[in-house]
Amino acid sequence: PPATPQYRSGYHFSPAAHWMNDPNGMVYYEGVYHLFFQYYPGAMVWGPMHWGHATSTDLVSWKEQPVALAPDSLGYIFSGSAVVDAKNTSGFGKDGKTPLVAIFTHHDPKGEKAGTKTFQNQSLAYSLDAGKTWTKYAGNPVLKNPGIKDFRDPKVSWNDVAKKWIMTLATLDRITFFSSPNLKDWTKESEFGEKLGAHGGVWECPDLFPLTLNGKTHWVLIVNLNPGGPNGGSGTQYFVGTFDGHKFTPLNDKTKWADYGPDDYAGVTWGNTPGRRIFLGWMSNWDYANQVPTSPWRNATTIPRELGLRQVGSEIYLTSQPVKELAKLAQPAVVLKDVKATDAPLDLTSQLSFSGDKFSLKLSTAQLQDFGLMLSNAAGEELRLGYDALAKQYYIDRRKAGPTGFSSKFAGRHVTPRLATTPAADVTLYVDATSVELFADGGLSVASELFFPSQPFTALKLESTAGITIRELSFSKLTGVQAT
Ligand code: FRU
Repeated sequence: PPATPQYRSGYHFSPAAHWMNDPNGMVYYEGVYHLFFQYYPGAMVWGPMHWGHATSTDLVSWKEQPVALAPDSLGYIFSGSAVVDAKNTSGFGKDGKTPLVAIFTHHDPKGEKAGTKTFQNQSLAYSLDAGKTWTKYAGNPVLKNPGIKDFRDPKVSWNDVAKKWIMTLATLDRITFFSSPNLKDWTKESEFGEKLGAHGGVWECPDLFPLTLNGKTHWVLIVNLNPGGPNGGSGTQYFVGTFDGHKFTPLNDKTKWADYGPDDYAGVTWGNTPGRRIFLGWMSNWDYANQVPTSPWRNATTIPRELGLRQVGSEIYLTSQPVKELAKLAQPAVVLKDVKATDAPLDLTSQLSFSGDKFSLKLSTAQLQDFGLMLSNAAGEELRLGYDALAKQYYIDRRKAGPTGFSSKFAGRHVTPRLATTPAADVTLYVDATSVELFADGGLSVASELFFPSQPFTALKLESTAGITIRELSFSKLTGVQAT
């Protein structure tokens, strides 16, 4: 297919060419954020998985690096994580060099084809040059499959209570926790979730980490699943609870979603970022990831998001906010105060010097009512998003936002419940060439959505049938930093 440079993200990571899916092995070490990712360097569709690699010092501008891990006799390199083994528990360290250790799933396509159930096993690789080059452990696999067809995506972190490494593993319809003193020998600790949460599909790519709220530590367990997401296809649910070093216990059995949009999947967090918890997802959906109309690459990541917790009523929710580093892309903002919208669409294009390719837009109101923002172009294409006061839902409608015929599952109007209960509201949008990420109410309601306009949006209008006063609307063009 002809190249589509107009669809290249300006500030989301995408590989220069070929296929990517899940972020993998995200770890911060010596001033560098490492991002590995499911990568097939042979085509623009999913295939024998490698770990691609990119690095950044600011979470915003990424440099693609050589492939880190390639398939071998044990199989493809599926998703997993990486840790800084500062105490050299693994013994991989040499001459005082700290090992970075990757823990990943070896997926054996021959075993899969033969109909066995044991074709996914956990393996190790290590780096003694701060992530540049990787050596696979000769003793792989280190955690053998006991006969569970889906047995993958290990997320490992050091647990101070257990004084061991804890592996959070997706095992078909539940999470299984394992512990290890040295990353090589693993003991099963417990299982979670067979009867809790959303089960519309297979559980994949989990994560477990602590966050504090009002001085109290809570544990968050992220569980991606496909299909069964809130707006169809893949999605990211989470549980809030306790983890005692052996077992995860949720506060209750409510299903919660980290992102309601169709296009945030397989997201997990960076390891080794003291004081911060930073999440990044794959900005696509298995429903159509192999068909999206980009070339010579397919798929990108979401923006990095800083996670927090917030209590609403008796529930504790995860909040996601764009990382503060993104602010450095912003050109001086145009700020409008007390904008009154009615059912006659208000054209904000010239006041904002609007251009729709790469921008952030923030709006706040003291009294939330229904409202709609319409982004449009000269081709008559339109992306609509806003708030439906009756349904108490934010929405994004991409049905007319450009060609959708590459997949019957792509066109749609997708909704995100409003979890906040205050009359005051705020909405932040991050728009890039083919995506919008919506963060409402301090990051309580989040939605990521792709679209493929045949030319960039050039006009912005605001309407509200009930009438809304936007106390402040701030618009900033963003500078692109990724190579195209
Ligand atoms: C999630 C996933 C993982 C697996 C990887 C394979 O998107 O299916 O469970 O490890 O992708 O590429």
